[in-house]
Amino acid sequence: MPANVELLGIARTIALRAGDLARLRRAEGVEIAASKSSLSDIVTRADQEVEHIIRGAIAAARPNDGFYGEESGAETGSSGLTWVVDPIDGTVNYFYGIPSYAVSIAVVEGDPDPQTWRALAGVVVNPAAGEVFAAAAGGGAALNGQTLHVNHDTELELALVGTGFGYDATRRERQGRVVTELIGRVRDIRRIGAASLDLCGVAAGRLDAYYERGLNPWDHAAGALIAAEAGATVGGLRDARASSDLVVAAEPGLFSRLNPLLQEFHRDDW
Ligand code: IPD
Ligand code: CA
Repeated sequence: MPANVELLGIARTIALRAGDLARLRRAEGVEIAASKSSLSDIVTRADQEVEHIIRGAIAAARPNDGFYGEESGAETGSSGLTWVVDPIDGTVNYFYGIPSYAVSIAVVEGDPDPQTWRALAGVVVNPAAGEVFAAAAGGGAALNGQTLHVNHDTELELALVGTGFGYDATRRERQGRVVTELIGRVRDIRRIGAASLDLCGVAAGRLDAYYERGLNPWDHAAGALIAAEAGATVGGLRDARASSDLVVAAEPGLFSRLNPLLQEFHRDDW
């Protein structure tokens, strides 16, 4: 089994190359390739091309590992490790030229299921900002080489909370109702548009907390490890681990106040 730092090095090299390609394609002009779960759930040609080069590079560096990507699906490996990849997280931002999109690459041990996997390394690259967030399990988290720490001792009333909305209209309406209940109890809400960057935002102290229901594994695999390594508690519904049911990340004290409230506000939605 390679050391986590070795895996992180591979992830970083590949994510930087992928980020360069995404930025180049953005500069050339972005084309929608298809709609997915709903008309607003778009995939651009760049999403597909970037995933293709990531997949090829991982296969070359780690031929026995599995792969689980947003655009090209899953393939089981024989090593027990799987690379969980979102080639462009924040695709709608990417399409509109909003500079908050990211390449997200994680490597996990065990089944590629967030309820059971153990994340070993994760990298989130925001090519438009020149930011590289990285973490290896047990080794802390860093932004462009500088160690990251979550904010501490934030009262719920003073917390800046990030969240996001899924692509399904019914789910979005429910998520909007939860925001309506929460917004009067916190400092403010942010909807940045890329779950991986929200989680890295918690790691960097740019957000005090983040939550979202309905994420896919590739949206949070790398960012959740980076937030946890920066000192956040990352969890899900009740005492479960983070999953598509719910992802919540915050410094432990704030997490323990926010998580029960979210469960209460989402009451009609499980
Ligand atoms: C989306 C973004 C968004 C979140 C959605 C995700 P995509 O991922 O992370 O912030 O609110 O739930 O699906 O489609 O841009 O890769
Ligand atoms: Ca994506």
